[in-house]
Amino acid sequence: MTIPTDDVVVPDRVRLLARGADLECVWRNDYGGLTFRATGQGDPFFIKWGPRNLEFTLSDEAERMQWASQWITVPTVLESGGDETHEWMVTAALDGLSAVDPRWVAEPAVAVRAVGEALRAMHDALPVADCPWDWSVSSRIENAERRGIVVPDHLRTAPEIDLLVVSHGDACCPNTLVGDDGRWLAHVDLALLGVADRWADIAVAAMSTEWNYGPGWEDALIEAYGVEPDRERLAYYRELWNAA
Ligand SMILES: Nc1ncnc2c1ncn2[C@@H]1O[C@H](COP(=O)(O)OP(=O)(O)O)[C@@H](O)[C@H]1O
Ligand SMILES: [Mg+2]
Repeated sequence: MTIPTDDVVVPDRVRLLARGADLECVWRNDYGGLTFRATGQGDPFFIKWGPRNLEFTLSDEAERMQWASQWITVPTVLESGGDETHEWMVTAALDGLSAVDPRWVAEPAVAVRAVGEALRAMHDALPVADCPWDWSVSSRIENAERRGIVVPDHLRTAPEIDLLVVSHGDACCPNTLVGDDGRWLAHVDLALLGVADRWADIAVAAMSTEWNYGPGWEDALIEAYGVEPDRERLAYYRELWNAA
């Protein structure tokens, strides 16, 4: 997953959805999915487009975004759809940069704090009792097995739940948008949002600091979230993420 540096060929569907707007590709994911910023035709918007996959769908994501928007800032979904091979979702642009934009990679202390505080705010705001989706260990293992992944036996026994929250599901740093003031602004990429132990998200957010800012930021993220590191749960959920 990365900010593309080469020229990206704009898919025909994206061109149609852009309705004449200028397109800049801002993100390429591991599934071959692309996200474009569209400008110059009214308010700016984003087009997320990608091949169908067995892990999640963009219609799942659109539904979750609409639900979460009752309590937290997430992009407003303008349109979503799919054909036999691909899916897409169009959202109104929020006025923030990904926490891994070069601007914030140059200021890791600010970015890491923003991501940790954003995650905590999300966990505090979303109501577990109203959440229709599950991101429990067993559901994740089932999902992985559907995709043909062999999950090691020792991961089948999760640590006791510390605190159930509505988890982001992909709490890595690129999915927090940061405002000009260096504070978190919004969450994106909610296709896997669901109820789980909070350490499922904290572990991924902490681990991803190393991919995006280099070593040494994990504990700063956990401190910004506002808990003492729980080494056992961190290790378990990191391993589950890498396996599943
Ligand atoms: N509505 C939006 N407003 C601002 N930035 C957005 C918006 N939607 C997506 N982005 C940017 O595009 C990037 C990719 O979108 P994301 O949903 O995370 O795709 P992926 O699932 O491929 O990671 C995000 O990290 C964010 O920087
Ligand atoms: Mg993302």
